[in-house]
Amino acid sequence: MISHKIIEKNSILMLVLILIVVAIGGLIEISPLFYLESTIEKVKGMRPYSPLELAGRDIYIREGCYNCHSQMVRPLRDESERYGHYSLAAESMYDHPFQWGSKRTGPDLARVGGRYSDEWHVTHLNNPRDVVPESVMPGYPFLAKTPLYIPDIAANLKTNELVGVPYTEEMVEMAASDLQTQVNPDADDVDAFLARYPKAQVRDFDGNPAVLSELDALISYLQMMGTLVDFTSYDVDANKR
Ligand code: HEC
Repeated sequence: MISHKIIEKNSILMLVLILIVVAIGGLIEISPLFYLESTIEKVKGMRPYSPLELAGRDIYIREGCYNCHSQMVRPLRDESERYGHYSLAAESMYDHPFQWGSKRTGPDLARVGGRYSDEWHVTHLNNPRDVVPESVMPGYPFLAKTPLYIPDIAANLKTNELVGVPYTEEMVEMAASDLQTQVNPDADDVDAFLARYPKAQVRDFDGNPAVLSELDALISYLQMMGTLVDFTSYDVDANKR
């Protein structure tokens, strides 16, 4: 008990010892999460984003769409009835940074893929009031006119690989060509592309096949959202759309 006396009389020593104890406690609590296989339940269907979808995601972030749109359907009845099955952690496992968001000026977009036609998105992103008269969403008419910047796409995949997205060497190597393939259903290597990115949608998204535009990328991203996981293998009866 003599040592206890020393500690209690010396505030600096006590502080240091408290910090050590708290740090050990913290490590024990947090570090298993980095190693446990079950932290994020693996879900069939999730794959890394195709180069075009990834480029679209970067435009989504650049334009600040997350300021008004969330990408997380919460497990509440009103949400799952409006948007579909609640979001699974695995659905954003390849998002760096994640786009869950906290503000919903507009609706949640986690399951917007396939809900509207490409033409609807083209019109809506050009001027939302053309399809939703009361909309307060800004228009992004320049996206259709801006050719997609593509020289850095392989580096983009590589960077995502660095933070844990399982892009293969082949995917990185083919990134620039995959970008073009996804907007051209007549391309020779569509099958190889689809083998790399199952369920990817291959077509011209912005209605202008002459240019690979930023709008192509953004719409390919929007149309993919929420379409990768096959929810028929889940018990969704309680959450039917
Ligand atoms: C100032 C807030 C705001 C910003 C910024 C914004 N939106 Fe919206 N968005 C809205 C509102 C409000 C609606 C609902 C009315 C409508 O459909 O236009 C909406 C609707 C949508 C819809 C239709 C969703 C549905 O389920 O009906 C999509 C898709 C969409 N926005 C995409 C985007 C994208 C992509 C961006 C970025 C380029 C963006 N929004 C930026 C406010 C915003």
